[in-house]
Amino acid sequence: MNAVGRLHHLEDLEPSTEEFRQSVVAGLSTRQKTLPCKFFYDVEGSRLFDQICDLPEYYPTRTECGILEDKAGEIAAALGPQARIVELGSGAGIKIRLLLAALDRPAAYVPVDISREHMVAAATDLSRTFPDLRITPVCADYTKPFALPAVPGITPRVTSGFFPGSTIGNLTPTEAVSFLGRMRRLLGPDSAMVIGVDMPKERSVLEAAYDDAAGVTAAFNLNLLHRINRELGADFEIAGFAHRAYWNEEQSRIEMHLVSLARQTVRVGDRQFAFDADETIHTENSYKYSIEDFRALAVRAGYRPDEVWTDRQALFSVHLLRATEPA
Ligand SMILES: C[S@@+](CC[C@H](N)C(=O)[O-])C[C@H]1O[C@@H](n2cnc3c(N)ncnc32)[C@H](O)[C@@H]1O
Repeated sequence: MNAVGRLHHLEDLEPSTEEFRQSVVAGLSTRQKTLPCKFFYDVEGSRLFDQICDLPEYYPTRTECGILEDKAGEIAAALGPQARIVELGSGAGIKIRLLLAALDRPAAYVPVDISREHMVAAATDLSRTFPDLRITPVCADYTKPFALPAVPGITPRVTSGFFPGSTIGNLTPTEAVSFLGRMRRLLGPDSAMVIGVDMPKERSVLEAAYDDAAGVTAAFNLNLLHRINRELGADFEIAGFAHRAYWNEEQSRIEMHLVSLARQTVRVGDRQFAFDADETIHTENSYKYSIEDFRALAVRAGYRPDEVWTDRQALFSVHLLRATEPA
């Protein structure tokens, strides 16, 4: 653990380049080629994601922020005083500010993110607004085991996860159940979870949110190929691929793909991968849940669904879950 500026410690479990290489090779070796969306987030990917959040088509960020602005007082009251908040996929750390400002003497804040520089910059910024808050960032892939940092001298009265942005939707429902179960065990028997979940809606609204007119989401998707070229010495011809996003209604998910525009071969280190024209790499899923379906999923993960808040148009939901004993 290292001291980082005004932060107390940085626990650094960033995935290695070798793990990245193995995931890329494994993903490109299957019949439907895939790449894990967690690797979108290098410095450039995180910067592009922040731009996406400001796009007119990208309703989730402004809608969830609106819910948090209106309901932070109720969420804070439900969590109680001296809470320790563990934020999963904390990113730019905008939404946590709304919650922290409403909480009664928050005890500690633990941002967890795979994108190290971006997270440290956001946490450093946050420490200027909340100078008395103990902030102990963890750079980790949260789908792998990690421990919560000890904070000597601090005894939180409750621990709550905070998982905004509908990032839970990047996991399949089965993965989401096992992930939430793992988080429940990590956070402890009386913990809570505040989680933002996007809801199904018209195809046109959903598809525009993931394929904006300015092409920022396309750049975000294609940045994954740039990253593979930069970090793994691959030779993806970026102009030979295009961004594609569509609503798969049957699965209740947006799928993002990179489409090969021609028959071509790509080298990643000493491996070669052949692409047919129009063959795709599946890069991200973004599952959308109705309130009832998400509450049922939470129960399967050992949570008792408590309150849920939504916006007037019912675009997005914020759920409060309470840990229960495993079923
Ligand atoms: C969709 S963005 C959401 C960012 C922010 N929470 C928000 O609501 O705007 C996903 C965030 O989770 C992080 N992330 C994605 N996969 C991750 C993983 N497996 N482990 C840790 N962080 C991850 C990304 O770096 C990014 O900051």
